[in-house]
Amino acid sequence: MLSDRGFDLWADGYDRSVGLSDEDGTYPFAGYRQILNEIYNRVLMGKRKTVLDIGFGTGTLTARLYGQGCSVWGQDFSERMIELAKKKMSGARLYQGDFSKGLVEELRQNKYDAIIATYSLHHLTDSCKVSFLKELLPLLDEGGRIFIGDVAFETRAELERSRELIGGEWDEEEIYFVADEMKKEFPQMRFERFSFCSGLFTLKKQRMPGSARSSYVEH
Ligand SMILES: C[S@@+](CC[C@H](N)C(=O)[O-])C[C@H]1O[C@@H](n2cnc3c(N)ncnc32)[C@H](O)[C@@H]1O
Repeated sequence: MLSDRGFDLWADGYDRSVGLSDEDGTYPFAGYRQILNEIYNRVLMGKRKTVLDIGFGTGTLTARLYGQGCSVWGQDFSERMIELAKKKMSGARLYQGDFSKGLVEELRQNKYDAIIATYSLHHLTDSCKVSFLKELLPLLDEGGRIFIGDVAFETRAELERSRELIGGEWDEEEIYFVADEMKKEFPQMRFERFSFCSGLFTLKKQRMPGSARSSYVEH
């Protein structure tokens, strides 16, 4: 698993290496641009736009949203990634912090219309993914949504088949999403496949009519 220092070293070449893997349609970034574009469009469809990006990297996605007037908040643990992202969106509120320990205090004080995590949460174990998502859901404003774009598979069997096909290139340190397992924890979570190795998860918070409590439903 890459440390914050590992990501610092990758930061300057990150956009190029991701772009090449995406263009070639190869693991792990096949579908990357399409997923980011889809999230971009869906966030802009809403009317209020306060966005939290978890593991924003060089800011590829949120800098575009920032350019469209969104108020951008984020957390990443790599100093160099933060420097590069700040150059693209000087008014964004970007904090340094390890999300395996949760969100930094400043980010927990706010509510968001969209919470985004692209290609970052596979650094958490499956049980930590679930508890982190449960920590994030109450931070959504009414009608807000969580978007997770990442290396992901519909079933564990599909993940195992891909691991065999990809062979030595497969990163054994990363823990990829399995949609039907996530849906056991979040039954209304929606999964859309974008390539043989990637997909987009959506969770929406919505107040149920006649109920004082909020429920989490797909959209
Ligand atoms: C593969 S990059 C993805 C960047 C960006 N979201 C994108 O789609 O291009 C993963 C990012 O998550 C950050 N990251 C990984 N593990 C993290 C952790 N435990 N806490 C905070 N940031 C982390 C890395 O520093 C890096 O910027």
